[in-house]
Amino acid sequence: MKHLLSIADLGARGINDVLHLTDNFVEVSGRAIPKVPALRGKTIVSLFYEDSTRTRLSFETAAKRLSADTMTFSVSSSSVSKGESLRDTVETIEAMGIDAVVVRHKSAGAPSRVASWVGASVINAGDGWHEHPTQALLDCYTIGSRFGLRGDRSGGAASLEGMRIAIVGDIKHSRVARSDVGAFTALGAEVVVVAPPTLLPPSLDGWPVTVSHHLDEVIGTLDVVYVLRLQRERMTEALVPSMREYRTGYGLTAARVRRLRPDALVMHPGPMNRGVEIDAEAADDPRSVITAQVANGVAVRMAVLYLLLGAGTDRVMSVPASAEEAALEDQRGDHKPASSAGPVDGPPAPDDPPARDGPPAPDGQAPTDGQLVTNGQPAHDGQAPTDHRSTNKKPRRRLVPARESSVTGSSRD
Ligand code: NCD
Repeated sequence: MKHLLSIADLGARGINDVLHLTDNFVEVSGRAIPKVPALRGKTIVSLFYEDSTRTRLSFETAAKRLSADTMTFSVSSSSVSKGESLRDTVETIEAMGIDAVVVRHKSAGAPSRVASWVGASVINAGDGWHEHPTQALLDCYTIGSRFGLRGDRSGGAASLEGMRIAIVGDIKHSRVARSDVGAFTALGAEVVVVAPPTLLPPSLDGWPVTVSHHLDEVIGTLDVVYVLRLQRERMTEALVPSMREYRTGYGLTAARVRRLRPDALVMHPGPMNRGVEIDAEAADDPRSVITAQVANGVAVRMAVLYLLLGAGTDRVMSVPASAEEAALEDQRGDHKPASSAGPVDGPPAPDDPPARDGPPAPDGQAPTDGQLVTNGQPAHDGQAPTDHRSTNKKPRRRLVPARESSVTGSSRD
């Protein structure tokens, strides 16, 4: 796989590959020196046309922990302010010699356009309302690690089966919701979107979800409540009567958090607006895994960068346990770059097409050869929401048990 533009690029099997590899990078991240030389000699650029705190820092930390060189492009201090186009900007950056571009842009489809212009790998770090695939991967990993799931390389295991996940709030403008619905349902979870009609897309055709307009009716049935921010920067009209009324109907208040099941999880992609979509009592509840999401984000992005630029899905990594060991190897002259790192005991299939056995992404693919969707609206919205799945709680199945990892990021093993 060369690019990661949407969750549909991965399918259930690809998601499982990333989750499985993430285990190793969680272990690396816990070391005294959380760094491996896997991507030494590679250059990764973050190209952020929108504000970001955690996603940009997370990708940059991930790249550094893999020993890649990093470049950061900031729109405000670049020639974009002198009128340079996206295409000229990326071609200029590519001429400097880069291996991957991490793109965030307000227009849906921008990363896909960038991928058509450059030879480097492109990772979508959020495009308009369309997709945010690495957020969905870190969300799957966070849920999975709390409930015992690990990546299952046997092929497309429905690892979140039996789980009921509510995504609450501004679904309409949320790329996180679109990627999460694709990823959670690809892994077998049941997803209910909870929002007022004004904050739902005009059509939920093709979304494998149920819809509720009443958070109080579903709150006690959930394994995960995933809260979204009101993305006011993307709203062109008033879609909620007031923040106070929104909180009353849809906020994860202290009272609602008390009604959650004891083993339920509270999640939020950040940034949070405490007192609006989530109360401090909910964000800081012991069931909240919001900071775990951030921590897992680094390891998940290491896994994604490694898959795209390193040895590929089916290779076994053999990397020094620390930067010191890498330096020692250098002195001995026996370090091998990650792309040829051995032992390689899996079938060498880094270029295999990704499995496409998950359900279709809710809004289909980003436009690949048309114009950018400049209002950020993905292509396939248009009809009234449907509620076609039973809301009865399925019997809870045990998740895939934690597996011993067969891929290791440590030469200590
Ligand atoms: C989200 C985003 O930018 O799409 N945040 C993130 O990446 N952590 C969600 C949001 O902005 O509300």
